[in-house]
Amino acid sequence: ERVLVLAGGMSPEHEVSVRSGRRVAESLRRLGVEAHIADIDAALLERLRTDPPQAVFPVLHGASGEDGATAEILQLSGVPYVGAPPAACRTAFAKPAAKALVAQHGVPVPRGVTLPKSAFHDLGAPALLERVVDRLGLPLFVKPDQGGSAFGATSVDSAEELSAAMVSCFAYGDKAVIEERIDGTEVAVGVVDLGDGPVDLPAVEIVPDGGVYDYAARYTPGRTEFFSPARLSEEAARAAADAALTAHRVLGLRDYSRTDLIVDAAGRVRFLEVNVAPGLTETSTFPLAAEAAELDFARVCRDLAFNAWT
Ligand code: DAL
Ligand code: MG
Repeated sequence: ERVLVLAGGMSPEHEVSVRSGRRVAESLRRLGVEAHIADIDAALLERLRTDPPQAVFPVLHGASGEDGATAEILQLSGVPYVGAPPAACRTAFAKPAAKALVAQHGVPVPRGVTLPKSAFHDLGAPALLERVVDRLGLPLFVKPDQGGSAFGATSVDSAEELSAAMVSCFAYGDKAVIEERIDGTEVAVGVVDLGDGPVDLPAVEIVPDGGVYDYAARYTPGRTEFFSPARLSEEAARAAADAALTAHRVLGLRDYSRTDLIVDAAGRVRFLEVNVAPGLTETSTFPLAAEAAELDFARVCRDLAFNAWT
């Protein structure tokens, strides 16, 4: 059996993807699967045509991976692949679209607005930001409408901090999502389909040492404490699992995904976003969740790859 793991990519999450891909390839090899790692480039389609692996396992985070572009190429190649089809990736990766869709299916989401960079030219930043604060109140959370690993994302406590947050955000994309910041317990819920339909994995509770789950807290070992399963009431844990399963289903995702949620002090769950290619690094939550479910992560990788072609 030969599996091609695609890792790297062209997004700011390149390095994270390399780490995720390495872990997947090592996991596959440990179980005797011949796994090769390659990055995406102009020769990908040709390589898949002349030397097709049995399956491709893309572990590409951010644009060109999670936005469906690579899935489109894999679809064209006819080689079976792990993960969601192009259209599902596109919707899931666009945070406002994903949020609207899951909200339509009854999952609570934070109130928010999406603003294009161009809106600031028309109205001027101070007036527009004042209106945002009037409407959503404080505190806020600002993030690019697409992307991951907290690039361009800022927590905003006061109105004065908002314009700097917008500048950071627009460094990574042309649209900003500004949401009411729900304070509470941050949890990630993995969903995996090993052949019998999607099932939820135990919620992983995320407690960063500085209180903020930024890039360093995500990828520096020891910087974040994880509780898996999360310390939630049975009711909240059920609501979190249902939200993740709903997101996976209504967005048409395949094989695996991870939904990020906040549980407020009253135990109410809000959907933040869903990841079609969740981080699979040594410090990522999806592998932890698999282990909490007593699934061997290496076997999960192997089963996902095998199921792609069988
Ligand atoms: N975007 C990163 C890889 C994650 O969500 O895990
Ligand atoms: Mg994310």
